[in-house]
Parts: sequence; C-alpha cells; structure tokens
Amino acid sequence: MKIGIIGSGYIGGTLGRHWAKAGHEVMFSSRNPEALQQMAEAIGAQVGHVQSAARFGEIILLAVPFGVIPDLVSAIGTLDGKILIDATNPYPQRDGDVAQQVIDDATQTATGYVASQFNGAKTVKAFNSIYFKVLAEQAFQSGSNRIAVQVASDDAAAKQTVMQLIADIGLAPQDIGSLNDSSIFEPGAPLYNQNLKIGDAEAKLSQLST
Ligand SMILES: NC(=O)c1ccc[n+]([C@@H]2O[C@H](COP(=O)([O-])OP(=O)(O)OC[C@H]3O[C@@H](n4cnc5c(N)ncnc54)[C@H](OP(=O)(O)O)[C@@H]3O)[C@@H](O)[C@H]2O)c1
Repeated sequence: MKIGIIGSGYIGGTLGRHWAKAGHEVMFSSRNPEALQQMAEAIGAQVGHVQSAARFGEIILLAVPFGVIPDLVSAIGTLDGKILIDATNPYPQRDGDVAQQVIDDATQTATGYVASQFNGAKTVKAFNSIYFKVLAEQAFQSGSNRIAVQVASDDAAAKQTVMQLIADIGLAPQDIGSLNDSSIFEPGAPLYNQNLKIGDAEAKLSQLST
C-alpha cells in the first residue's frame, strides 16, 4: 500500500522503515525533507513535505506531538476517504492546552478529537501504546512471540486494513473495538505502554472486561 508518514521521528521513522521492509511504498515527510533524504534512499522510500505525504498516501500515519495537530489540519487540508492512523498521545506538559482540554473532556477520546479534526478521513487509533524501542527491536516475530498492538476505529474496513499492516511487520493486532472503547489504551490506562506479547495482552483485556 502507499503510506504517507507525517512525523518521521521515533515512531513514524521506525514504522516507515518497517513498512518499507515489508514491501509497502512509503513517503516520509518533514518540515526539512532534505534531512531524511539519505535514510529514505537507503531503504527505497520517498521523502517530501507534509502536504506531499498527505497526498501520496492511501494510508496516512500521524505521529507528531499532539499539540501541533491544530496547525497541521490547516496545513494539510482534507484527508477525505483516506485511512488515518493516529499514533499520537496528548501530554499537557509537552502539548499544552489542546491536550489538557481533550483529557478534561469526558465525552471524547483523544483519537475522537483527532477524527473530528480530520473530518472525512477514516480514523484508526493504533501504535500510540507501544514504546518506540520495542517497536524497533521486537517487530518481525511470529505466532505467540508477537507484541500486541492495540487498535480501535469506528470504521470496520479501515480497522481491518490497519490490522493487516500491523501483521505485515510481525506484530499482533489486538482489536479493542470502537474509538469510544479506546480510552483503555490511552496514557495512564491499563493497556497503555505495556508492550505485552499477544497472549498476555489478551489475558489482560479479558481480566479488565470481567
Ligand atoms: N516515542 C514513543 O515511544 C511513542 C510511542 C507511542 C506514541 N508516541 C506518540 O507519537 C507521537 C510522536 O512521538 P515521537 O516520539 O515519534 O516524536 P518525535 O521523535 O519527536 O517525532 C515527532 C515528529 O513530528 C514532527 N513535527 C513536529 N512538529 C511538527 C509540526 N508543527 N508540523 C509537522 N511535523 C511536526 C517532527 O518532524 P520534523 O521536525 O522533521 O518536521 C518530528 O520528527 C507523539 O504524539 C507521541 O506521544 C510516541
């Protein structure tokens, strides 16, 4: 698939490299694309500005600090019909008022907020709950050795596509349900940053449901 990476840092950079290795077409983006040129060329990926990656991808990975999302929405424009993977987390100390407001609003999850900002995209929450070093070092496993990656969306088909993208890089998708269910893997919640193998992650989820 064609995947545009917005935020090519710890999470976006690692995921882009993994997807390129798995045979997907990847475009990394940056406010300074030339800084990524050498790395991208070495793995057969492309580089562009944020707007170029947004146009390029059928799938868009959003992996920026949460606080820059309002600015990005106007810079990117529409993502209508595209699948948007939201890997962001709201941290008020880093991200300011926009993060605090989302945390204080009990009617909305963080990814619910992102989905409302990119109205028209099919938003899927994933990869926000895995530590980048685990992602870098423990991908491309098989069976019960795979690390779980929690996934949630209100769009069943988009969620299936993202679950396949998770499986393509040797991780185990764990379907948590709709965006309303996703608070269980937001910062401070029981499935956040646990980095469990899939069997342990499923056991933890069923414990939480009883
Ligand atoms: N680190 C983790 O283990 C981890 C795990 C799960 C989720 N997350 C979440 O994923 C997101 C990214 O985290 P990270 O650790 O990957 O951060 P990071 O390494 O600092 O990378 C963030 C990227 O965002 C881009 N960026 C910053 N401001 C921007 C703006 N105004 N417009 C466009 N791009 C901008 C930067 O790209 P340029 O400077 O090249 O433009 C940078 O490469 C955060 O929301 C974080 O909470 C992190």
